[in-house]
Amino acid sequence: MTKSFVIASIAAALVDTSSASAQTYPSRPITVLSGFAAGGPTDVVMRILADRMRTTLGQQIVIENATGASGSIAVGRVVRSPADGHTLSIGHWSTHVVNGAIYPLPYDMLTDLAPIALLPSNPMIVVSKKAAPASNLKELIAWLKANPNRVSAGTAGPGSGTHVAGVYFQRLTDTQFTFIPYRGTGPAIQDLMAGQIDLIVDQAANSLPQVRNGTIRAYAVTAKQRLASAPEIPTVDESGLPGLHVSTWYGLWAPKNTSRAVIERLSAATIDALADPTVRQRFGDLGLEIPARDQQTPEALSAFHKAEIEKWWPIIKAANIRGE
Ligand code: MLT
Repeated sequence: MTKSFVIASIAAALVDTSSASAQTYPSRPITVLSGFAAGGPTDVVMRILADRMRTTLGQQIVIENATGASGSIAVGRVVRSPADGHTLSIGHWSTHVVNGAIYPLPYDMLTDLAPIALLPSNPMIVVSKKAAPASNLKELIAWLKANPNRVSAGTAGPGSGTHVAGVYFQRLTDTQFTFIPYRGTGPAIQDLMAGQIDLIVDQAANSLPQVRNGTIRAYAVTAKQRLASAPEIPTVDESGLPGLHVSTWYGLWAPKNTSRAVIERLSAATIDALADPTVRQRFGDLGLEIPARDQQTPEALSAFHKAEIEKWWPIIKAANIRGE
């Protein structure tokens, strides 16, 4: 047997294995790691998508809440997982952008992950416990100024979206309050409802159901426009705090070296889910805006992710926000 024949046979076998595994993919349940607690917005976004994707992919999708270090434990686990499409990472602006500027991560956010799809984004809402002595944003800021460091704000950990948005709020309002870290804003909002903490600069998707239930109070949306699904909440600009514009976008990734065929299968299933009327309605109700179809591709997520890192790392480093 010649040397070139052996090499050609090995190469053919590898091609066969790769296309065979793409044809049989997914061959078992897919695990998606979220870095935050169950019931919070990351968990909810993935559950809405998974309800549709498990039908198109023909497999169960299990969401594992691997909390810690503001989501970077979960991302690290996906990076170290086999690149076979059965372990994925759901995350957002803070887990996949901000964390790289504040934690010494054992992975590279751009080169150790393979992008699948850009997912919806949502602004924050400044919310408080019902008993806070303020009925609008100006009164809330006046209360904070009158009580420096005596008011508490829940976050999903140092560098999480809620923390960075809270720091931005403090800078623009010249106020000081104490950040209380949680394993996600799911448990933080439970404590807000119970009056254990005073406020959260929270993702709309987390707060809106409780605002509607009347268990917490909403002051302003951190966007230029009001939310279509909650038009009664004014924007920060309308409420006397112009410029506090913060939005959290979500994305879905696989480990690097995942085959193109598997990425395409996952990308198609995600794009299908984002076009589904029930999924769109559920996201819309939570204030989550679905990106345009041409922005949902792996290539668009890759370009957007890189641009976000280039934009935010200098800002976050200059703000001196530190990890745990
Ligand atoms: C969560 O799922 O708890 C949030 O995405 C945390 C955050 O706002 O960063």
